[in-house]
Amino acid sequence: MKHTELDQLKRPLRDLRISVTDRCNFRCRYCMPEEIFGSNYPFLQNDKILSFDEIEKLSRMFVNLGVKKLRITGGEPLLRKNLPELIERLNKIEGVEDIGLTTNGSLLKKFSCDLFKAGLTRVTVSLDSLDEESFASLNGNRGKVKTVLEGIQAASDAGMEVKVNMVVQKGKNEQDIIPMAKYFKERNHILRFIEYMDVGNVNGWRLNEVVSKKEILNTIHNVLPLEPIEANYPGEVATRYRYLNSNQEVGIISSVTETFCSSCTRARISAEGKFYTCLFATQGYDLRELIRSRNSDKEITDKISSIWQNRLDRYSEGRSNQTKTHSKKIEMSHIGG
Ligand code: GTP
Ligand code: 5AD
Ligand code: SF4
Ligand code: SF4
Repeated sequence: MKHTELDQLKRPLRDLRISVTDRCNFRCRYCMPEEIFGSNYPFLQNDKILSFDEIEKLSRMFVNLGVKKLRITGGEPLLRKNLPELIERLNKIEGVEDIGLTTNGSLLKKFSCDLFKAGLTRVTVSLDSLDEESFASLNGNRGKVKTVLEGIQAASDAGMEVKVNMVVQKGKNEQDIIPMAKYFKERNHILRFIEYMDVGNVNGWRLNEVVSKKEILNTIHNVLPLEPIEANYPGEVATRYRYLNSNQEVGIISSVTETFCSSCTRARISAEGKFYTCLFATQGYDLRELIRSRNSDKEITDKISSIWQNRLDRYSEGRSNQTKTHSKKIEMSHIGG
């Protein structure tokens, strides 16, 4: 039986974002800076990570509580062994209407066909620059633009819809906005520009490093004129635009300057099985412990439901320059964005 769970701000539970690993083969400065995530970093051991059985079980419970969309994240989710098998299993859950995957694209060429066969119809690839040198400096010298672009092509050739996410940081990659816009417009992939956010504690975020939605829009509009288009669904994270005289869409995700907490229907599970009700949460609820100590599905579902019903999160609405690194927020590499 399906419920409609509402939180304290009357927001239903609709999306579940599942991190399948805390590991990544890149070291983006804003997420896993090399000096912290070095060779001795204590990544989660396999037995601390949710198994596919556990992920499937929890997903079924969330779907019973109203979730319709699933998104697989990491770290880098394609580092998780046999990921297509998980997609296949999640795809079979009755009530799941959509599955997405957020990846850095480096392994897409290898896995695109298997992912598509497993039922994945769309992927979102993170790419912050088309220039090899600046991309290398953004990702800790681990990844190549060429490989990511080949991954995008492979995913597209396999039959998947590809979206591209670009995080824009002042003084780092603003100059890449137009080349990225042109490149993905020509290839008919939806590009979304993301305002740089204060996720986690390690990136030393400052408000003056954010390039606002307004600035991004002006930059593009001056070269490639845009018109707004309506949201696909209520609470969509990206505001959508279309290049004039074309059908190609482009989006901006303005989680700093125009927040969208009032329509946030997203729950998240970290790789170690903690349930978070906000991307900026300081504490999660340990579902792994609950599932491994043989509680019944009903007991676990009731717990999830009660956590959602008590939810009050609206972090982005209260953000300020003071926010910085004070409270111990969950890291992006554990929760996947
Ligand atoms: P689709 O509409 O399903 O394609 O996906 P989406 O718009 O949710 O996109 P995606 O999952 O790729 O999210 C893009 C980025 O938006 C994430 O990586 C985050 O940086 C940001 N984002 C997504 N959800 C939230 C949220 O709930 N809060 C905040 N502050 N940022 C979010
Ligand atoms: N601000 C905005 N977006 C971020 N991402 C990672 N860290 C941040 C941040 N601090 C993006 C990644 C990827 C997605 C998972 O989240 O680039 O597109
Ligand atoms: Fe890896 Fe993505 Fe984090 Fe970059 S942003 S280090 S690609 S998980
Ligand atoms: Fe949702 Fe938290 Fe993001 Fe607001 S800050 S949109 S409540 S995840």
